[in-house]
Amino acid sequence: MRLSVLGASGRIGRLVVECAERFGVPVTGAVSSDGAVSLLFNNADAIIDFSAPEATVEMLKLALHRRSMVPIVIGTTGLGKVHEELITSCAGYAPIFHSPNMSVVVAILNELVGDVAKALGPDEFDVEILEAHHKLKKDAPSGTALMLGHSVASARDQIFQDVAQFDRVKEATELRKHGEIGFAVIRGGSIVGMHDVSFNGEFERLSLRHEALDAGIFATGAVKIARWIVDNHLPPGRYTMNDYVHHILNTR
Ligand SMILES: NC(=O)c1ccc[n+]([C@@H]2O[C@H](COP(=O)([O-])OP(=O)(O)OC[C@H]3O[C@@H](n4cnc5c(N)ncnc54)[C@H](OP(=O)(O)O)[C@@H]3O)[C@@H](O)[C@H]2O)c1
Repeated sequence: MRLSVLGASGRIGRLVVECAERFGVPVTGAVSSDGAVSLLFNNADAIIDFSAPEATVEMLKLALHRRSMVPIVIGTTGLGKVHEELITSCAGYAPIFHSPNMSVVVAILNELVGDVAKALGPDEFDVEILEAHHKLKKDAPSGTALMLGHSVASARDQIFQDVAQFDRVKEATELRKHGEIGFAVIRGGSIVGMHDVSFNGEFERLSLRHEALDAGIFATGAVKIARWIVDNHLPPGRYTMNDYVHHILNTR
């Protein structure tokens, strides 16, 4: 497998390049904000993207324009509707994998959170999601926190937009609403990443927490996912962490 990296000079992009070298995977294209996105598509069997939403848009537009069949693994967060639509269109030609978190352990946490939310329901347990990251992270709450919130809402048959509470300060004169999912954010220092989903009842509290201790897990996860897609010749389509986790469980 030959790899191209978008965001190659960034914190995670650099780790992707290092990881590829360790795995003996040649990096044939390394693009940052001063490079041409078109270079990503030359001689690569897969593209890994840890950049910024504007760079991801440019890459996806180009992929669509070229009807590119090169698989893309997207780790960039803070994506919106336009990215969603482009990902779906590009997935008509190539496998497109997207996850705000490339850790298999976080994928398992996400499943657990859904199971617990379903079991406890919205009436007796108030869900609060706390996340912490380093001071250079731009988007908030993190893509992972949003993913966890979506899992809670869908397990409780709620519409996420109706129950997500991002600003308690603004709502300071009101009590917590029934069924709400609260988000809180910490930014500081070099925190790699922490997510805590708590279920707060009258007399007891359950907290499910993941802490990333080394950002290498995201880079290694992305390279392994690219290798899974390429080695298994996966057909065009949208892929998520669930697909990858099921592959891992099936091959155990
Ligand atoms: N999915 C996951 O598991 C996971 C884990 C961690 C982080 N992330 C996400 O991955 C992304 C990158 O994180 P990071 O910490 O590595 O950020 P970072 O250190 O700021 O790096 C961003 C990279 O993107 C490049 N870039 C920015 N704008 C660009 C543009 N318009 N065109 C081309 N390249 C551009 C930067 O190039 P320059 O250096 O030239 O500016 C740099 O190489 C963020 O969205 C972050 O939230 C995802």
